[in-house]
Amino acid sequence: MSEKEITILGIESSCDDTSAAIIRDETILSNVVASQKVHEEFGGVVPELASRAHQQNIIPVVDLAIKRAGINREDIDAVAFTRGPGLLGSLLVGTSFAKGFTLSMNIPLIEVNHLQGHVLALFIRENGVEYNPPNFPFLCLLVSGGNSQIILVRDYLDMEVIGQTIDDAAGEAFDKCAKVMGLPYPGGPHVDRLAKGGNPRRFEFSKPRIPGLDYSFSGLKTNFLYFLRDHLKENESFIEENKQDLCASLQHTIIDILMSKLKRAAKETGIREITVAGGVSANSGLRSALREYAAKFGWSLVIPKFEYTMDNAAMIAITGYYKYLNKEFVGQNVVPFARTQL
Ligand code: KG4
Repeated sequence: MSEKEITILGIESSCDDTSAAIIRDETILSNVVASQKVHEEFGGVVPELASRAHQQNIIPVVDLAIKRAGINREDIDAVAFTRGPGLLGSLLVGTSFAKGFTLSMNIPLIEVNHLQGHVLALFIRENGVEYNPPNFPFLCLLVSGGNSQIILVRDYLDMEVIGQTIDDAAGEAFDKCAKVMGLPYPGGPHVDRLAKGGNPRRFEFSKPRIPGLDYSFSGLKTNFLYFLRDHLKENESFIEENKQDLCASLQHTIIDILMSKLKRAAKETGIREITVAGGVSANSGLRSALREYAAKFGWSLVIPKFEYTMDNAAMIAITGYYKYLNKEFVGQNVVPFARTQL
């Protein structure tokens, strides 16, 4: 893309993963992720503990990313960091580190929107791995613990949210319903695993009636909670005896909600280039449903590698790379933000 190779250090600290990555042009050289185990016993991320853990992790994680990439600090052309959205205390750690690093090395600082990073993860190249990025314009179903959106992507840095959740995210629906069933945090992967042995049509849960391309998951969460409460009154082993069917039926409902709006978005925009991003895109049921719809409606489908669907700094580094080419730099007065749009 450019004549001189560009080397970017990416930093991600928006939630409970401390991550650093090195990208040279679009090719990943290293991607180190330190996941914080400290939250497991609380059944969710504890913001104060998350920022403390980021403080402990950030220097060793960056150090390891540079070593694994086989480069020197002096080879880095710019630092890209997640500015938001996320937990403010967590974001502050990555932001402060990035500022200090760029100041000491006298190189540019690049702010990255975490959601844009999830989308651009689709463009990460890996040495020796076939490169299969989507063509513009495409639709991206971004489903994570904090967001559920349908994004119309016209170019690397030109995106528009055309549908989004008006309350909870899909990942939250997975995690909160899993918690009610006594499953560990984060519950999404456990529901996915248990659903494989269950009947997705055994129980029926409510689906929202929201106009347009927007989503809603809070009604489903409440419906699931009351459904269990009512059955537990009659049979206290109800969850244990029906766990697989409960997971399969819950997952089936969430996927149905996600896919119906995605199908509508494809129809309304006339775009058949479809992608998925964010932690929930690891869900095996969602991946199968996407493949099924792609075959049925003639979509060209790009599903990212599992490693780049979860929170990671490689996606921040690649976004930083495109912003570097555009010379989109920020000053030392930049501050993180907890909530934002694309
Ligand atoms: O993108 P991500 O790592 O973090 C955010 O930025 O939110 O997404 C984390 C979310 C959690 O809600 C987790 O339960 C969900 O992704 N998740 C899954 C699966 N793997 C991760 N949900 C359903 N099935 C999975 N296999």
